[in-house]
Amino acid sequence: MTKILHISSLAPDIFEIIIKSPDIAKKAQAGHFVVLMVDEKGERIPLTIADWDKQKGTITLVVMVVGTTTAKLTRLTAGDSLYALVGPMGHPSIIKNYHIVIMVAGGVGTAPIYPIARELYKRGNKVVVIQGARSKNLLFWQDKLQSVSHDYIVTTDDGTCGQHGMVTQPLQEILVKDHQKEIGCVYAIGPAIMMKFCSKITKDFGTKTIVSLNSIMVDATGMCGVCRVEVGGHTRFTCVDGPEFDGHLVDWDLLLDRQKIYLPEEKKSYTHYIKGTKEHDP
Ligand SMILES: Cc1cc2nc3c(=O)[nH]c(=O)nc-3n(C[C@H](O)[C@H](O)[C@H](O)COP(=O)(O)OP(=O)(O)OC[C@H]3O[C@@H](n4cnc5c(N)ncnc54)[C@H](O)[C@@H]3O)c2cc1C
Ligand code: FES
Repeated sequence: MTKILHISSLAPDIFEIIIKSPDIAKKAQAGHFVVLMVDEKGERIPLTIADWDKQKGTITLVVMVVGTTTAKLTRLTAGDSLYALVGPMGHPSIIKNYHIVIMVAGGVGTAPIYPIARELYKRGNKVVVIQGARSKNLLFWQDKLQSVSHDYIVTTDDGTCGQHGMVTQPLQEILVKDHQKEIGCVYAIGPAIMMKFCSKITKDFGTKTIVSLNSIMVDATGMCGVCRVEVGGHTRFTCVDGPEFDGHLVDWDLLLDRQKIYLPEEKKSYTHYIKGTKEHDP
């Protein structure tokens, strides 16, 4: 049994969960994810290992509530156990010296960006972080991102914090201003639509761009094919070939379409779950 040690709210519908898992913590690297089941009848969902402590034997997950399983998970409390947890899974990020790296974090994409930025910072890169959210109250881990960056920029869609607008604006401005200054790589992690537009901008400048794809997963072992994506004209499985890919080669429209394939079932499941929890409320 895998015990939850701590669960707290970071922002509306975004939670931080610390889990005791010495075996996973020992092997965790930036870019890895876990797959968990909340209960015996539940589905398996992938979540990034956003932080870990090898000494304490813990891993940290950041979860945004979008449907039934994330809702069930974030209603657990410290002391509860998960039915199953496996990992670390996926290929870790390649940590090397790119000279200057721009890290773009959109929404809950802050969680996977943080450990990658930390490792690139330790490796001696100049790290520029652009963190974006719809509004100020949805920003989290700002202190953590600042601690692993040389330059830190915030954008909010509604202008309640930092620059008014989307993350793509400062990204484009930096590339226009500094593209001759050895920007070796851009990391963009967040909603697929954000990663698509970041990749579109960087392609014009010929700047290498890595994205972490959030395709729907079922088995996460390369057997079912649900997480398949097209990268450079080849079929790839996000679970075993990724989750990181070259953003310039991803077929974004296919990914965006495939993210919606179970939408009617997901809506039905969520309505059923919420109705059930209300019936059981005292
Ligand atoms: C490698 C990887 C790492 C991820 N890391 C995180 C993370 O750190 N924090 C976090 O909050 N979320 C993360 N996700 C997304 C998370 O897995 C989904 O939000 C979750 O599975 C949704 O389950 P649900 O039952 O609550 O919602 P559902 O009802 O299943 O789905 C609701 C919505 O989420 C989308 N969705 C469903 N399943 C997935 C899926 N497996 N991946 C992506 N989108 C999905 C659907 O298209 C739908 O729009 C990650 C996904 C991948 C592939
Ligand atoms: S989730 Fe089944 S092949 Fe990747």
